[in-house]
Amino acid sequence: MSKTKQLTTASGIPVADNQNSISAGPRGPLLLQDFHLIEKLQHFNRERIPERVVHAKGSGAYGSFTVTHDISAHTKAQLFSAIGKRTEVFVRFSTVGGERGSADTERDPRGFAVRFYTEQGNWDLVGNNTPMFFIKDPIKFPDFVHTQKRDPQTNLKSSGMMFDFWSKAPESLHQVTMLFSSRGTPDGYRHMDGFGSHTFSLINEAGERVFVKWHLRTEQGIKNLSAELAQRLAGSDPDYAQRDLYGAIEHGQFPRWELRAQIATQQELARWETRTGWNPFDLTKVWPHADFPLITVGMLELDRNPANYHAEVEQVAFSPANVVPGMGYSPDKMLQGRLFAYHDAQLYRVGTNHQQLAVNAPRCPVHHQQRDGAMTIYDHGAAPNYENVSEAGTAPLGFGHGDAGWPVTGSAARHDERGTGDDFTQAGNLFRLMPMEEQQHLFENLAGPLSQVSPAILKRQLAHFDRADAAYGAGVRAALEKRGVLID
Ligand code: HEM
Repeated sequence: MSKTKQLTTASGIPVADNQNSISAGPRGPLLLQDFHLIEKLQHFNRERIPERVVHAKGSGAYGSFTVTHDISAHTKAQLFSAIGKRTEVFVRFSTVGGERGSADTERDPRGFAVRFYTEQGNWDLVGNNTPMFFIKDPIKFPDFVHTQKRDPQTNLKSSGMMFDFWSKAPESLHQVTMLFSSRGTPDGYRHMDGFGSHTFSLINEAGERVFVKWHLRTEQGIKNLSAELAQRLAGSDPDYAQRDLYGAIEHGQFPRWELRAQIATQQELARWETRTGWNPFDLTKVWPHADFPLITVGMLELDRNPANYHAEVEQVAFSPANVVPGMGYSPDKMLQGRLFAYHDAQLYRVGTNHQQLAVNAPRCPVHHQQRDGAMTIYDHGAAPNYENVSEAGTAPLGFGHGDAGWPVTGSAARHDERGTGDDFTQAGNLFRLMPMEEQQHLFENLAGPLSQVSPAILKRQLAHFDRADAAYGAGVRAALEKRGVLID
């Protein structure tokens, strides 16, 4: 029997001819009554949805997460309730600053967003391949992203804009150091680590809270592209990372990451802050492994490619606000900003009912009083649509987060943090951790874009490298001089 199916209109009406428009006479003009032609052209005009305002280019895959170690003393989240427990996941990797058609090998952080379809709703760990971020206050995010995108007049990317911002935001130095190291050009998505980056919290059955940072360690080993190869691939194979991930899964080489956690009580963090001067909720800082060792939690494996890129990878809508009972947030200002940003972006990018699409819908029953709106898929039937209905309604039955909250003090004000923190020690530590050869790559990777910025920006940025480590500043200066840049 033939595998070919009868072509229909979107309303299911069989189409007899899909090659010839209905015309008045063999040469036309065409007739308005050709509804099939009109529907085909109209739908085509509406095929695109807005690309993500950041992380527009990405690749996705399905898989599973399996618990290998017991952390149920710290969290009552059901997905961690037993060793061997398996939860389905969807992961989307991405670059950050480029458009949907941009090259996968650009120097850029990589997004690493994981959705766990748990029986208590979706947990989204929306992280990057870096444990820190460029800024610590979300009010700076739109400005920062504008400098990573195109100049409003020339429509060109601009090293001048990027380093103008970074040089005036010294808290960015830690991640700038990582970005311009070889980790800024990972070899596809399989050979990089992932980080939840923020501090989140875990809450156990007794209602006790600990704070947590999540890590995903690649089982494939870290592999980076040299700057030259990354640049060459951007021209010859701009979809390099998509091809690599899709191909590996098609060939049964399922990539894996070990999920690990750094866990600390409020008191431990307070003591650490007194000793180091670092705010444990500052996203520009990491918790050193020596102070907070990594605990293994489980294994993430990707084993299935999506069947339809648009339906699944383009329409997936992650949000750091999606945490399940047994988890909570932290005072990290960046996390607080993100709790708002994602759902809001998706209401615009995908639509009011984006959570109803197959890739976004939780794999557990959903009962709420939100109704209607464009493109409603759920059929709530006769279920009441208001709280406190006398019978057969929905109500919180005591199974929710049970988060007792954390104490806060201080005035509600725009507290100016500029110049108050130590923006240089951790950046210097990262630099000192690099082997000499890696430091040399860092100098050269920085010297390229820095050779294009104004003397004032260059002076400001070099002063930051000097403060992190004298050898850092000296190395970048030498690389600039090799390129013929005069430094006063
Ligand atoms: C205040 C800071 C931030 C804001 C306001 C922000 C905002 C956004 C927005 C609006 C999107 C697009 C969402 C969509 O249309 O689906 C996005 C995507 C994303 N962001 Fe952020 N972001 C921030 C910081 C971060 C940080 C610190 C990380 C990593 C630790 C991160 C990781 C991601 C990832 C991985 C995606 C892509 C998710 C996907 O694959 O669909 N963002 N961000």
